[in-house]
Amino acid sequence: MTKVGIDAVEIWTGKLKLDLPETFAPAKDEDPGKYTKGLGLEASSFPDTYEDIVTMAANAAKRLMDRKGLTPDDIGRIDVATESAFDHSKPVSTYVAGCLDSVYEGDFTHTNKGERKFACVAGTQAIDDTINWILAGRNRGRAGLVIATDTALYARGDPGEATQGAGAVAMLVDEDPAMTALSLDQGFGSKDETDFLKPNQQFPSVDGKRSVQVYLSRMREAWADLESVAGRIEPVDFAYAPFHTPFPGMVRKAAPLAYRRLVRGTSVEDDLADRIGRQPREAKFDTREDYEEAISAYMDDLTELVEYQEWYSGAIEPTLDIARRVGNWYTGSVHLARVSALRHAARSNTEMIGGRLLIASYGSGAQAEIHPETVREGWKDEIEALNIDGQLARRYDISYEEYETIHDVHDYDKDTEVEKFTDPDGEFVFTGWGRMNERQYEYAE
Ligand code: COA
Repeated sequence: MTKVGIDAVEIWTGKLKLDLPETFAPAKDEDPGKYTKGLGLEASSFPDTYEDIVTMAANAAKRLMDRKGLTPDDIGRIDVATESAFDHSKPVSTYVAGCLDSVYEGDFTHTNKGERKFACVAGTQAIDDTINWILAGRNRGRAGLVIATDTALYARGDPGEATQGAGAVAMLVDEDPAMTALSLDQGFGSKDETDFLKPNQQFPSVDGKRSVQVYLSRMREAWADLESVAGRIEPVDFAYAPFHTPFPGMVRKAAPLAYRRLVRGTSVEDDLADRIGRQPREAKFDTREDYEEAISAYMDDLTELVEYQEWYSGAIEPTLDIARRVGNWYTGSVHLARVSALRHAARSNTEMIGGRLLIASYGSGAQAEIHPETVREGWKDEIEALNIDGQLARRYDISYEEYETIHDVHDYDKDTEVEKFTDPDGEFVFTGWGRMNERQYEYAE
């Protein structure tokens, strides 16, 4: 069977940085520990005045096309995944293609463009769509460009304000991919939920605490569904498990559930039984409440064990490195986690060819999807070609007052004019509104 997956990736971060423990916490009269220890965050990325979901997506895509020596003729689809779209009809991918058209010979006239929406899981769904198009033999030798781009901004004063972020991840999905090949086995957990939504509004309505519970429930269902097709999954099967990371503390909550599931019924569970007993089985309890209490006590004991801690620091912690420094990128978040994991492998000289990743995506509303990926021969070259460290280091560190101003600049209900904080340098920029209220862009040399 043809291998299909992610051939190349590029990242574009918003060019401003809000330091959460140093700048945000004191302004909110909060303990910095809430960010560094509780949520696991150091900073959020924000878009400068001339940045938005289109510029970040187009800039990531251009870097990717230039690096891979691609022309518009090589791209059969452009799918943008976002939950920050500003138009109910015209897809963001048309704006992105318009930007790219202006700098390349040739154009994207024969490229199929679309927009995928299902909160943060939409990027993974767009990869799926592209893979299906390739496997159906309808790609005419061309690859698909999947771009996850978001400005994850919350209303000021909303608890979600602690977990904002902005950036884009562009991925080239192709046959015989250099980076990772996706397994066709996948598991879904999906239910009609109202944990996070934006009914005709720019900033989300969020039930934050509930969203954490919904995330965990849908992940559990997706895991069971995956095992029903792929068989039992054990800790040794995967080098890393990149999860959707709205904030690293969320993944810290999800990890013990994943580990419990991974070791259930295995020799690892037998080995742990002397110290913490066997995992509670629901059938042995009179009520669901008693069972949940027993599970919670078992999990507390489990997370204290060296076996769990070693697994966490090997398979999970490395996936959180970029998220910790940029905040929530919504649709891009799980794809940043994949990159974080592979960067860790490259830096620690870990041989990854043939190694496996367990990718766990989640979108509020709500749906989780989990699938395995196998790392391919070209993974290290791809990861080493990224300039994410340079991008992060160059961000302009905003004060709290500047944060309030830039939040207002990006608030559609406010008309705030302010000087840009950074200078564009060979990138697409937003230049203003056109006669039909469309957004306009140009390439700034
Ligand atoms: N030292 C260590 N930990 C601290 C701390 C300190 N000084 N102060 C607070 N914390 C911990 C809290 O105990 C809590 O951890 P817990 O959840 O394990 O109990 C964590 O930091 C966050 O603090 P909390 O007071 O609960 O934050 P909050 O009321 O601002 O809400 C969210 C946090 C995540 C619910 C909120 O930011 C939100 O709504 N985010 C958007 C929704 C989202 O991202 N959902 C995820 C699913 S996709």
